[in-house]
Amino acid sequence: MNTGYQLLLEKTAQVFAETFGQEPEAFFQAPGRVNLIGEHTDYNDGFVLPCAIDYGTIVAASPREDDKVVLIACDYDNSRSEFDLNQPLEKMAGNQFWSNYVRGMVQAFQRAGRKIGGVNMVISGNVPQGAGLSSSASLETVTGLTLCALSGQKISNSELALAGQSSENNFVGSNTGIMDQMISASGEQGHALLLDCRSLETKAIDIPAGTAVVIINSNVKRGLVDSEYNTRRQQCEEAARIMGVKALRDADMTMLEQFAGEMSDITLRRARHVITENDRTLAACDVLAAGDLSEMGQLMAASHISMRDDFEITVPAIDTLVEIVGEVITNGGVRMTGGGFGGCIVALVPEGDIDAVKQAVESQYESRTGLKATIYVCTASDGASQVENAAA
Ligand code: GLA
Repeated sequence: MNTGYQLLLEKTAQVFAETFGQEPEAFFQAPGRVNLIGEHTDYNDGFVLPCAIDYGTIVAASPREDDKVVLIACDYDNSRSEFDLNQPLEKMAGNQFWSNYVRGMVQAFQRAGRKIGGVNMVISGNVPQGAGLSSSASLETVTGLTLCALSGQKISNSELALAGQSSENNFVGSNTGIMDQMISASGEQGHALLLDCRSLETKAIDIPAGTAVVIINSNVKRGLVDSEYNTRRQQCEEAARIMGVKALRDADMTMLEQFAGEMSDITLRRARHVITENDRTLAACDVLAAGDLSEMGQLMAASHISMRDDFEITVPAIDTLVEIVGEVITNGGVRMTGGGFGGCIVALVPEGDIDAVKQAVESQYESRTGLKATIYVCTASDGASQVENAAA
């Protein structure tokens, strides 16, 4: 158990005892994620290569005798939100907005015909929020696991992920793909996961020994993310429609060239990003599995340029951060990760490069952009699970 999780376990246990006057029956965890390559490909039925990280959300929980769900969020001043499983689910605003991710999971389970019982849950997480590291997916996934486990039910990783996506799409109102919830549910320690977002098949890809996953948060205030995300989705759908394919997953560069005259320049560039990014993601699996960090770096660089020029989802501070890191690494690569318009970059580098990366970011980023970055050196981690021996 990493030290971050240990602190969250202690905090949730303490708040649980104070609130409910007894020890929780069980603890559950689900991680956030970072995507190594394959951006904006998931909702095009394509391929992604994320890994789960050692930052996540912990829940301390016990079943209740009645049909109430009582939630306490440690990270929002122990704010309390509760609802009855027999009443219509209400969407919350303001200081209870966080509870919508939980409510959305309940809705997804009810729609799927799962019988979930009442529960007390105390929640705390350490995934930085709004940074594009999937703090919300980790909350959805840990919630789903908690609700099923305490009701004595098994759930597969893909069912858990689909319920999380449903919570996001149908309850919270964000039109996201399946990547974040799938990796939070099914991550594997020391591995990235190739995920086929059409079949939901996964394949674990070894991250070569001695390689560090370094995440750097640009701390750019993200604005217009939802509307830009939705616009990108529409542009991709338009391109698929023009080419007569179900999704951009089914198109290739030859087809795109054939149909180029029938689409606007923007639509063409959006499609080109997705088509080439799918190819890069599949290639990345092979080179990573072969331990070829140098070729991986080339693919990550090409991915960043494609996100910057064709998909237009990077911002100047992110490009600067990628440039700063790119100049000092001796091997491996760096690119923006996540939905875009701010958020984080990810570097996959030899462990020996970590200090140089930190130093370069600390000495140059603020003077060039006026912003301070936050650096997380992460370990590829397991997906959602019950935490055994929580006190150990
Ligand atoms: C967000 C969404 C994901 C995915 C990425 C972009 O993280 O939640 O489903 O679309 O953006 O790759």
